[in-house]
Amino acid sequence: MNARAPRPPRTAPAALEVRDVTVRFAGLTALDDVSFTVAPGSVHALIGPNGAGKSTCFNVLSGLCRPVHGTVRLGDAELTRLAPHRIAALGVARTFQNIVTTEGTVADNLMLGRHALSRAGFAASALRLPRAVREQREHLAAVRAIAELTGLARHFDTPVALLSYGDRKRVELARALCLEPSVLLLDEPVAGMNAAERARTAEVVADVRTELGLSVVLVEHDMGLVMRLADEVTVLDFGRAIAHGTPDEVRGDPEVLRAYLGGDAGQEDAA
Ligand SMILES: Nc1ncnc2c1ncn2[C@@H]1O[C@H](COP(=O)(O)OP(=O)(O)OP(=O)(O)O)[C@@H](O)[C@H]1O
Ligand SMILES: [Mg+2]
Repeated sequence: MNARAPRPPRTAPAALEVRDVTVRFAGLTALDDVSFTVAPGSVHALIGPNGAGKSTCFNVLSGLCRPVHGTVRLGDAELTRLAPHRIAALGVARTFQNIVTTEGTVADNLMLGRHALSRAGFAASALRLPRAVREQREHLAAVRAIAELTGLARHFDTPVALLSYGDRKRVELARALCLEPSVLLLDEPVAGMNAAERARTAEVVADVRTELGLSVVLVEHDMGLVMRLADEVTVLDFGRAIAHGTPDEVRGDPEVLRAYLGGDAGQEDAA
């Protein structure tokens, strides 16, 4: 464990309970009565073929998409009627499937992730009042610790445009962590990475979970990674949750095999 590890989440993670969530886009049912529970402090994988509804599910969890019915509860809070910034303030942070940072240094990007935690107002910061200066120093220490935990410390002052693709994707993960979330939503964190970068990111996710004690919801097509990291897996297919269980349980489930082998199985490394 590193000497300057970030603090554990502001609040101990509560269970994230998704119940009967349905999302429709015009005639298409992207999520159809989906239910699952992310146990506190666990890694819960959400898998399924392309178009199964995984990112839509993340959009519901983070408040970008409102379901036609169903609920999402984090402890006592019902999330489905809250704006994204309110959900973030409750400790739910996410990364996006296709976004890779290109502007600013690693430090700049991580400091952006602290924005929601800033208490000093704009005027206090602009006037460099002592309170604002102190707060800025604390934020910088926190983001340095997160950079260490995510293997980005040696690139702290490097423009992200100069980093490898794997490191840039890890900046996204680190930025989400800067919110000090109790639930971290990772949408395909290793997509497009080579084998070494994948292994490094898998290590980082495992470390983050152990050292910070947060819950992770992981969407990933890399089945090796899912099987290694996940405590529980929910399988989506055409918007329906067709299986739940441990990685070993879902791997042998005939419905899951049918969904993959009968659909886009060719692009998965499912084995
Ligand atoms: N904003 C939208 N408007 C209309 N249809 C949408 C919208 N977002 C998603 N969809 C459709 O909803 C379905 C689920 O999409 P989603 O992106 O959630 O799948 P996914 O499981 O994340 O797939 P992938 O593995 O390719 O990322 C797809 O058929 C998709 O085309
Ligand atoms: Mg997706």
